[in-house]
Amino acid sequence: MTPRSTTPHGLNDESRQFSLLVNSVTDYAIYMLDPEGVIRTWNPGGQRIKGYLAEEVIGTNFARFYLPEEVEAGLPQRNLQTAATEGRYVDEGWRLRQDGTRFRASVVIDPIYENGELLGFAKITRDITERHTAQEQLEEAQQSLLQAQKMEAIGKFTLGLAHDFNNLLTIIANCLDLLSLRVKDGALATLVDTAQRAIERGALLTRQLLTFGRGQALAPEELTLAGLLEDIQPLLQRAAGGNIRLSAAVPASLPALELDRSQLEAAILNLVCNSRDALPHGGNIEITASAQQLRDPSRPDSALQTYVCVAVTDNGEGISLADQARVFEPFFTTKPVGRGSGLGLSQVFGFTSHSKGFTQLASTPGQGTQVTLCFPAQEV
Ligand SMILES: Nc1ncnc2c1ncn2[C@@H]1O[C@H](COP(=O)(O)OP(=O)(O)O)[C@@H](O)[C@H]1O
Ligand SMILES: [Mg+2]
Repeated sequence: MTPRSTTPHGLNDESRQFSLLVNSVTDYAIYMLDPEGVIRTWNPGGQRIKGYLAEEVIGTNFARFYLPEEVEAGLPQRNLQTAATEGRYVDEGWRLRQDGTRFRASVVIDPIYENGELLGFAKITRDITERHTAQEQLEEAQQSLLQAQKMEAIGKFTLGLAHDFNNLLTIIANCLDLLSLRVKDGALATLVDTAQRAIERGALLTRQLLTFGRGQALAPEELTLAGLLEDIQPLLQRAAGGNIRLSAAVPASLPALELDRSQLEAAILNLVCNSRDALPHGGNIEITASAQQLRDPSRPDSALQTYVCVAVTDNGEGISLADQARVFEPFFTTKPVGRGSGLGLSQVFGFTSHSKGFTQLASTPGQGTQVTLCFPAQEV
């Protein structure tokens, strides 16, 4: 027979074993509640995760770990009830530490019965904030990668189409030019003239598609945002119309940019026109700008660098979440035929990415929209 130690300090005393076990665990908060949810025991894991010492929490209700709005909604007591009636309560949610910060908790509550009587609950909580945050970041990165790949694919497709289309248009335009030399007047001359104007519209369209597909050659020059906005202010004001308050607050001290001036003007004009269309009953359009240290979101591993960002913000009708994923696609429009071409934001997108920058969109339906163009600042 193996000799059994009878000393109370050995590992043979069951309640001592249990207490040693629970008190060595620092990764899990393991504690007991009475049937009302009052904390009866505490362990180092509880202290580490939630920040309270045993004497600070024992005797108080475990509802203190819940967010105020959840306490208001009666969640702590409901969870105990679920555990009591269903035999277990398992959940993941946000909880409060002593210092008021939140952590993501994985929670298990087991009821403890003796002879059919509910004595209380065993509660195990684990801090899974890191895993939760990592998962969220991963999902975000996957989402923006998917979006970038989609835009890349549409860009390539559009570019090929625009090139072919352009070649055909050039042939037709040349033929029409030759025809117009021979047909001087009469009904035939009118037909040739109409066809030539249609060719001009077609050429504009292909230029816009080329811009989106980054096939349009840019003519960058050094410029400052403040200077450019001052120049086009009257144009923007006219585009915004009478019942919209348009304001521009762009510091003159921002770093200079090396950009295609007419494309940048077109991009800002496109944004102001979109904001105007989203404000059929009037409202505000604000143009603001700042220098920021950012990473190109389509290349999360790129280094931080200085970007000059110009934002056009309106308090208009906003864009639904489903549409937000599509607004930069060429020909995507929610406007009636004749009002929208669906090429405004694709010009903005194509131009910013072709200029080594990027575009950001933030919109809340019913509240407004902000489109931000970020361009790498000129190195000094
Ligand atoms: N500031 C804005 N507020 C609300 N919706 C907008 C805004 N800007 C763009 N949109 C939405 O994005 C779509 C695409 O915009 P855009 O490419 O400029 O094409 P268009 O203006 O010709 O429709 C618009 O039809 C509209 O639904
Ligand atoms: Mg538009």
